[in-house]
Amino acid sequence: MTKRFENKVVVITGGTDGIGLTTAGSFAAEGAHVYITGRRQERLDEALREIGNGALGVQGDVSNLADLDRLYAQVKRDHGRVDVVFANAGVSESAPVGSIEEDHFDRVFDINVKGTVFTVQKALPLMSAGGAVVLSGSGAGSKGFASLSIYSATKAAIRSFARTWTVDLKSEGIRVNVVSPGMVMTPAMHTYLKNNTGAEEWMKQTIPFGRLAQTEEIAKAVLFLSSDESSFVGGEELFVDGGFVAV
Ligand SMILES: NC(=O)c1ccc[n+]([C@@H]2O[C@H](COP(=O)([O-])OP(=O)(O)OC[C@H]3O[C@@H](n4cnc5c(N)ncnc54)[C@H](OP(=O)(O)O)[C@@H]3O)[C@@H](O)[C@H]2O)c1
Repeated sequence: MTKRFENKVVVITGGTDGIGLTTAGSFAAEGAHVYITGRRQERLDEALREIGNGALGVQGDVSNLADLDRLYAQVKRDHGRVDVVFANAGVSESAPVGSIEEDHFDRVFDINVKGTVFTVQKALPLMSAGGAVVLSGSGAGSKGFASLSIYSATKAAIRSFARTWTVDLKSEGIRVNVVSPGMVMTPAMHTYLKNNTGAEEWMKQTIPFGRLAQTEEIAKAVLFLSSDESSFVGGEELFVDGGFVAV
């Protein structure tokens, strides 16, 4: 197997579950030094055992700037550089307009938007030409789903960051792109489908490919956008959603 990320230093926020965990495993299998984060220490320890390959974890919340400082201080001590950032940590909560509470708004924007901004900004002093940033978007940023206005707005912001930061980072030679999943079979999604009768059938009927994505399918897109194979791709939003947004 070709190892596209041999000795590359890769930081993945929210790498203890779902898409982030699978993506961390894929980078590690291709030779990268992988750092993952997550708020729950116990889950972080389990995830590191699952990933193996010398992956390291730094417990922390992306919406807490001091936690991000601790993360990058450790990466700097260990390697002195970052080659790839996958700003993946994100939460989805729902409330219809008319019932949006301030703490719902603050929590989702703090993690998804503020967390992404400072995850990337604080990595920049350690990055150089050839570096890649992949942001976690969502098909929700381009569609209208009932009760998901706050989450969807955070993902529209992510898409916008990739455009502006592509220009801001032009002279640094750092590429920024977004990977936007549709509906993905993560452990959290599995639980949601179990508790919401009819939701899986609705998704299968709505997605042109007739099924949900596997986390491996999102990971492949993240590795593509992080590798030289996408050397002339910038400011792009790659939908990995079985045709959901495009069709
Ligand atoms: N699954 C989907 O269908 C889908 C679709 C479109 C987009 N996405 C996007 O893809 C990304 C990953 O989603 P997922 O479904 O894989 O999520 P998930 O299975 O719920 O896992 C989320 C991960 O992020 C961590 N996390 C959450 N909040 C955090 C915070 N404040 N600071 C640091 N880490 C945090 C979690 O660990 P802790 O809880 O321990 O912090 C966990 O490791 C998200 O940005 C999501 O919006 C997912």
